[in-house]
Amino acid sequence: MSTKESWGSRVGLVLAMAGNAVGLGNFLRFPVQAIQNGGGSFIIPYLTCFLLMGIPLLFVEWSMGRYGGRFGDHSTPFILDSIGGRNRKLWKYVGVFGIFTNLAVAAYYCYIESWTLAYVWKSLAGAFNGQGTEAVSQMFTDYTNLGTAEPIVFWIICLALNTWILSRGLSGGVEIAAKVGMPLLIFFGIFLAVRGVTLTAGESGAVYDGTEGLNFLWTPDFSSIWNFKVWLAAAGQIFFTLSVGMGSIQCYASYLRSRDDVALNAMSAGWMNEFVEVVLGAAILIPISVGYLGIERVVELTQTGGLGLGFRTLPYLFQQWGPWLAALAGLAWFGLLFFAGITSSLAMGTPIMGFLRDEFGWKRERAALAFGISVMLLGLPTVLFFQYGVFDEYDYWAGTVSLVVFAMLEIILFAWVFGIDKAWDEITRNADMKVPIFFKYIIKYVTPVILVAVFLGSLLSSGGILDQISNKAIHEQLAVITDPAQRALLEDKLLFVNGSRVLLVLVFAFISYLVYLAQKKRDREGRIPVESK
Ligand code: PHE
Repeated sequence: MSTKESWGSRVGLVLAMAGNAVGLGNFLRFPVQAIQNGGGSFIIPYLTCFLLMGIPLLFVEWSMGRYGGRFGDHSTPFILDSIGGRNRKLWKYVGVFGIFTNLAVAAYYCYIESWTLAYVWKSLAGAFNGQGTEAVSQMFTDYTNLGTAEPIVFWIICLALNTWILSRGLSGGVEIAAKVGMPLLIFFGIFLAVRGVTLTAGESGAVYDGTEGLNFLWTPDFSSIWNFKVWLAAAGQIFFTLSVGMGSIQCYASYLRSRDDVALNAMSAGWMNEFVEVVLGAAILIPISVGYLGIERVVELTQTGGLGLGFRTLPYLFQQWGPWLAALAGLAWFGLLFFAGITSSLAMGTPIMGFLRDEFGWKRERAALAFGISVMLLGLPTVLFFQYGVFDEYDYWAGTVSLVVFAMLEIILFAWVFGIDKAWDEITRNADMKVPIFFKYIIKYVTPVILVAVFLGSLLSSGGILDQISNKAIHEQLAVITDPAQRALLEDKLLFVNGSRVLLVLVFAFISYLVYLAQKKRDREGRIPVESK
């Protein structure tokens, strides 16, 4: 049952794709990753990963999506199935990743998105006025500890909003959200970036110039070139920020017409994301907090969880600008985060809806509701047990490891199983730009090799996947800590961490089962395999 849905206009498509990519990752995750990994020493691996993995994967995912859309497939299980060909039936189970990650990432992502909504409200209501550093930071702790019902209320509002926009479809919902949200976000971002960069020492209590933070980030440091951990962090950030390895780009691209260009569109959306990340994303959180607190203190703050900086520290720092500007800055910062967040969470909902509509003939409203409810159910543990690390567990498995695994498998499928010549034809067909031929070789050799290396590295390195599975860090702490209360907390943590993994595995298995059912249904209905069309 192919859906006739498509994008309204090219501008709308590019903005929606840019909205998909530009998200909380650009403003909260990127600065924190950059600081944690030494500032200038992060930038070289980061840009290298963008060129050698980000761009090639954008070409690959956009063209895989458009290819699948031609056969009425809008989610990765059956997009991969048609690319894999009739005799290779297992690829559709690899495609399960492209549904699983969207659901599991949305489960914690929508929760952060709801914080930004609450914080817009708090900023406008003057909740931070006259509060000290500790008090503002404590407000966030109380908030995530569910001291009041407020977080739940905002969370439900946020989920309802996502569901409603999704139920209005692509051109009537998602595209409009992007057309409103993206320009506002850029406008807010420029306002804050100008404030951040022009902050001078002595001005309303600032100790350093805002440019101090920029220098920290933009002074290249070659000593890290051999540090594997920095490379992993850089690769992880590139995946997350571009939304590659998730299945959501393929889904958006599957609503293109087959004569539409993918190459130029992919580059427009991808570079727009990088602009927002390295120019705007880098010029707000770091310069402002470094201006007041100095680099050492900021580095220290990011060691204990990165989200803190945006929610615990910035609202306090804005207060130094006087009540009016503080309210305005709060609106701009949390408003920007909200628009960044929602245009991304909509992109996580679309593949799930596409799957339910293609395979089970569900109506748009029903599919949107199914997404909203699943995100709520799967998100509930992250909301209720936030302090036990459930949230981080989702982010690690669904938001990091799965992306690398899926990207690695899909590029092998596209460049080697489907074949690089056909793949290259797909990428360049009807292209509105000339794609340099060396990308053909990068896609065939370089990107897959790097991906396999990154995967093996993250499997084996210390603190990597294997260590995570065995909960090495928690056990090491347990071995030295004697205080009973702390031990009890760690043991609880162990329980919740293991519990969330079991839950995620079950979700994966359930989606695989749905894909199996979908295939049976296709067989029964005699849907013709792609190759013979
Ligand atoms: N790219 C988004 C961000 O930077 C996150 C995202 C991942 C969105 C996957 C959609 C799909 O926040």
